[in-house]
Amino acid sequence: MDLNLHRKVALVTGAANGIGSAIARILAEEGAHVLLADVDADAGPALAAELGGAAQFFRTDVTDSVEVGRLVRECARRFGGLHCLINNAGIQSYGSVTEMSEAVWDRTLAVNLKGAFLAAHHALPLILRSGGGVIVNVASVQAFLSERRSAAYTASKSALLGLTRSLAIDYAPQVRCVAVCPGAIDTPMLRASAALAADPEAVLAACRRMHLAGRMGTAREVAHLVAYLCSEHAAFISGQAYRIDSGLGLEVGGGSGPVRPE
Ligand code: NAI
Repeated sequence: MDLNLHRKVALVTGAANGIGSAIARILAEEGAHVLLADVDADAGPALAAELGGAAQFFRTDVTDSVEVGRLVRECARRFGGLHCLINNAGIQSYGSVTEMSEAVWDRTLAVNLKGAFLAAHHALPLILRSGGGVIVNVASVQAFLSERRSAAYTASKSALLGLTRSLAIDYAPQVRCVAVCPGAIDTPMLRASAALAADPEAVLAACRRMHLAGRMGTAREVAHLVAYLCSEHAAFISGQAYRIDSGLGLEVGGGSGPVRPE
């Protein structure tokens, strides 16, 4: 299927690593010009260089309104418009409400939720001037099912679905807004989370087992869904959240129960 993203301009936050880098890569492969936004000023420029003229990097902390405003102005200056905004930047945090400090709660919500608000707030006028487009919010399966001790993360990702609905309603029909909700995807974030456990390999094994596919997802699999949602083939899709989680949570016992044969 030709996604026909030629002449489209995409802005991807959290684009230097993991899922965001795979999204940037596929959008560029499909012909889009891509502006990579990230706080990682090593991996971001390296990816832009690898992708060639179609991609450029602009260091941006999505929690900072001034920086996000500057990012959108750079997008207009460098590429002349904007059609696809991918709000992918996110951080993981752990703790129940009583364990968690206010600072951790605030930071998690700032990156995962306010970052998407700020990007949409600054980018929407440019998207509308460019003839309309798509906003994709990378949420999580934790908008539906939650790990223990993951209160801020799960709250932020659930709220992102509400923001997705509001954006879809308020800016239709010029702008579509959708959310994607990945299961466990093998990225630096997931590896870092597993490394916090006493037995990281046991965590990774559980991450594989809990999906019907018996493995973790890849960043590229998520990126293919995002690229499709950005394309005109998805013109009748807006306001919804799409799980990409290989049936996570469908099975009684979550697939990690003792009766599942290896
Ligand atoms: P990652 O940690 O591998 O990559 C995240 C990127 O976001 C990094 O390049 C990081 O520098 C950047 N970033 C962090 N804070 C930022 C900020 N304030 N401003 C700009 N950039 C910032 O994470 P991964 O796994 O690729 O996650 C991407 C998105 O997918 C996140 O929103 C995450 O919550 C979501 N997700 C990931 C899952 C997984 O299993 N890996 C599962 C479900 C959702």
